[in-house]
Amino acid sequence: MDSIVVTGNGPLSGRIAIAGAKNACLTLMPATLLTEEPLTLLNAPRLSDIRTMAQLLQSLGAEVSALQDGKVLAMSSHALDNHRADYDIVRKMRASILVLGPMLARDGHAVVSLPGGCAIGARPVDLHLQALEALGAELDLRDGYVHAKAPSGGLKGGRVRFPLVSVGATENVLMAATLARGTTVIENAAREPEIVDLAQCLRKMGAQIEGEGTHTITVEGVERLGGATHRVVTDRIELGTYMLAPAICGGEVECLGGRRDLVGAFCERLEAAGISIEETESGLKVARRNGRVQAVDVTTEPYPGFPTDLQAQMMALLCTAEGTSVLEEKIFENRFMHAPELMRMGARIDVSGGTAKVHGVENLKGAPVMATDLRASVSLILAGLAAEGDTMVNRVYHLDRGYEQVVEKLAGVGAKIERVAA
Ligand code: UD1
Repeated sequence: MDSIVVTGNGPLSGRIAIAGAKNACLTLMPATLLTEEPLTLLNAPRLSDIRTMAQLLQSLGAEVSALQDGKVLAMSSHALDNHRADYDIVRKMRASILVLGPMLARDGHAVVSLPGGCAIGARPVDLHLQALEALGAELDLRDGYVHAKAPSGGLKGGRVRFPLVSVGATENVLMAATLARGTTVIENAAREPEIVDLAQCLRKMGAQIEGEGTHTITVEGVERLGGATHRVVTDRIELGTYMLAPAICGGEVECLGGRRDLVGAFCERLEAAGISIEETESGLKVARRNGRVQAVDVTTEPYPGFPTDLQAQMMALLCTAEGTSVLEEKIFENRFMHAPELMRMGARIDVSGGTAKVHGVENLKGAPVMATDLRASVSLILAGLAAEGDTMVNRVYHLDRGYEQVVEKLAGVGAKIERVAA
């Protein structure tokens, strides 16, 4: 299994191009199941999670071709011949549950494996299922699978009120509602940019949607959807991750394609820590010119709050801040697995339940560390950029799920980083 070796060697300088959003692409791809006409996605990121979703769609009978080195995904679901998403693929990636709503809406039936738990917590899918039931779906959970049926005549519009904000459940029911009869109102909907991106793509396909980006989304069902071409929104988590690189080891990096509105709460915390962020014509320029960063407190929240997917990376920065920072994780119950690894590098962190107290130290020291999940792995790379000596990050397959060309991108701004085969 490959490892990544990072050697801290001072300030970075240059530009990094930010890719299309993994999480947006993973919900835009199943939207192809809603129509017999072609759906083409531009600016797709080249990641193993995207290939997994392509395999899942292909297993259902959809055609998926990766063009232009994977940056363009041309999809067509004119001949779906299987409505069963098998455990073997679904277990690899939780986002697989997003095929349920579209298949059910278009063809009235679907069987999808339950995704199971994952390293960052239990992550159930009850909200997805309750929302689809509100549109009249009959669900039966047997043998680890959800067996779903629409009433005769198809799904019907309904009122969905989420007890807590769920990105995936909002996406699933939003897609299903586009083809339901009548009006669906989704209350306490997620407001993430990925939801807005999905709604914009669905609208190009002919869906009637209002209110995306707010707490209440209203969908007027239509009889059929058509094809579309859509450009995937910038990956705000990749953006935030690379903004932290110069913050952590000094220098100045321009993140191309970056937009402040995608990472507003994150920018505010970074600036409070003493980092300068400038909006340029091509993106966001981030600089740490002198001195240590200052401790800041961070609480993760649904968008537009501070994203849970940037918590691990922010913790890496705060390990070397002046003072004590308090990080509160409010979205997932077990998302501090990077803390013990950062402590192997000399960080001082006390974790208690959903709260981590990070007591800043002057220097981190390179060490062999283990990646436990996607965002945790990249936080260890960031920490390695600031550490003295070599940091070897093992189990990097997690990284391949969500960061394309991480070694090339960081080396391109002057980091000493390489991938080594085991
Ligand atoms: C998405 C993102 C993930 C991000 C997360 C929160 C994708 C592919 N993944 O995940 O990177 O960390 O949003 O911003 O877009 N929950 C339930 N029941 C459900 C669904 C969720 O209890 O049926 C809980 C979860 O356990 C979690 C919270 O709701 O505590 C939020 O999860 P959710 O927003 O659904 O996350 P995902 O869509 O899985």
